[in-house]
Amino acid sequence: MQIHFTQDLPTEARLLAQVVDQGKLPDGMEATIRDGADAARFKGQVGRVFESFVERGGKTRRLALAGVGEPESEKRIANLEKAGAALTAKFLRSGEKEMALDVSGSNLSAEEAAAVVMGIRLRAWHLDNYRTKLKDDQRVTLETVHVVGAPEGIEDAWQRSEAVAEGVEFTRELVTEPANIIYPESFVARCKERFAGTGAELVVLDEAQMEELGMGALLGVGQGSERDSYILAIRWNGGEEGEQPVAFVGKGVTFDTGGISLKPGPGMGDMKWDMGGAGAVAGAMLALTKRKAKANVVGVVGLVENMPDGNAQRPGDVVTSMSGQTIEVLNTDAEGRLVLCDALHWTQKKFNPRLIVDFATLTGAIIISLGREHGGLFANNDELATDILAAGKRSGDEMWRLPIGPAYDKLINSPIADMKNVGPRDAGSITAAQFLARFIEDGTPWAHCDIAGMVWDEKPGATWDKGATGFGVRLMDQYIADFAEK
Ligand code: BES
Ligand code: MN
Ligand code: ZN
Repeated sequence: MQIHFTQDLPTEARLLAQVVDQGKLPDGMEATIRDGADAARFKGQVGRVFESFVERGGKTRRLALAGVGEPESEKRIANLEKAGAALTAKFLRSGEKEMALDVSGSNLSAEEAAAVVMGIRLRAWHLDNYRTKLKDDQRVTLETVHVVGAPEGIEDAWQRSEAVAEGVEFTRELVTEPANIIYPESFVARCKERFAGTGAELVVLDEAQMEELGMGALLGVGQGSERDSYILAIRWNGGEEGEQPVAFVGKGVTFDTGGISLKPGPGMGDMKWDMGGAGAVAGAMLALTKRKAKANVVGVVGLVENMPDGNAQRPGDVVTSMSGQTIEVLNTDAEGRLVLCDALHWTQKKFNPRLIVDFATLTGAIIISLGREHGGLFANNDELATDILAAGKRSGDEMWRLPIGPAYDKLINSPIADMKNVGPRDAGSITAAQFLARFIEDGTPWAHCDIAGMVWDEKPGATWDKGATGFGVRLMDQYIADFAEK
């Protein structure tokens, strides 16, 4: 989708869109429109669109009014995005090729106008390339958006937002691609392509190198798959030289069958998005790199496929992690923590980060706890937890904190090894977090985000179509902007 900024209404755009604050139809609006909006009970409610026809500039135009709610709302930016997204939802496949978004009479700041455009752009993302039999009226038609009369500063505001949009879209792409297309090696290849020439530095570990480092936990998970496992690190050094980086770490299980502890058939296809944490970390790194964030950040993803073949690890196997700690693998379906523990340990040894935040589709239990409204947050440090919660609220990727502590920790003690990879049925998301906590060095602030409920949506949402949401990218971007760049 092309976005242009202009001061004059383009003659070629038949579709004319405007945003409307709650209860305030734009001045000078024709009486027929006012009456029509009234009849349709359109008052500028967030995300509502009223459609009509008007004559403007000597042409009949299709007019769409998108509601943005109360101007004083604390959710102002999110509401503006929702209005933009609602326009896309309505017109992306409508036959219209161009849309003129007229904000000239609207009092929007540059940041606010950019938020509407962000909503338009994010809601447009989709992956149609495997659909060879799309009917004409199912095809995307909307190609260009002309933003008319935006205030000064819009180009800079949009440049920043556009980088973040690219990051969110990259995450959605990685998450949406099926597991025969995105597997550990091709995940790395796609990142190499996408980061080429951006200034980010990529470090890849293959199985031989991970063997050498002693990553028995991660390698054990990949052992039943024909596909090789990898670790990928993406570094962006936009901050001061020598300053310790912030580290983001992601779970990248490109397909999770459960291994020998095989999952039931129905719904197993969902496990193509068990790399949603890694996808979010890669997308966030792209956003930070593209907007040249003034911070040192490293994103590390552990990439494996969890399959049950003759070489697969068995329930009861004991593996040794890179940290030296041993693990009794009682359930091969609790594989995410096995991947993360080696990725987390290596990240600390290799990059000496000042803090770590990990993202993982780690437990089904977090979906039972929090549904699909919040990701689950766990942390060994209150300040970091507070900052992540704040960044979540501001960005719309909202988190909710759950407890950790010694009483939960002892639930994963093992009679044969240092720990087992599953606790009892109770508190499943917390014992998973406790497992990870055992691999964080004393004094390193660490937060764990269990995003199993947030990566995929069966229905269209605020700024996404049904499918991959891109959750986590905007949270990481916001965290860096608010707490690492200043
Ligand atoms: N990838 C799953 C968690 C998951 C479930 C993500 C549903 C998204 C939707 C994870 O590897 C897993 O299988 N976890 C087990 C842990 C259990 C064996 C302790 C689970 O949640 O059932
Ligand atoms: Mn699993
Ligand atoms: Zn998994």
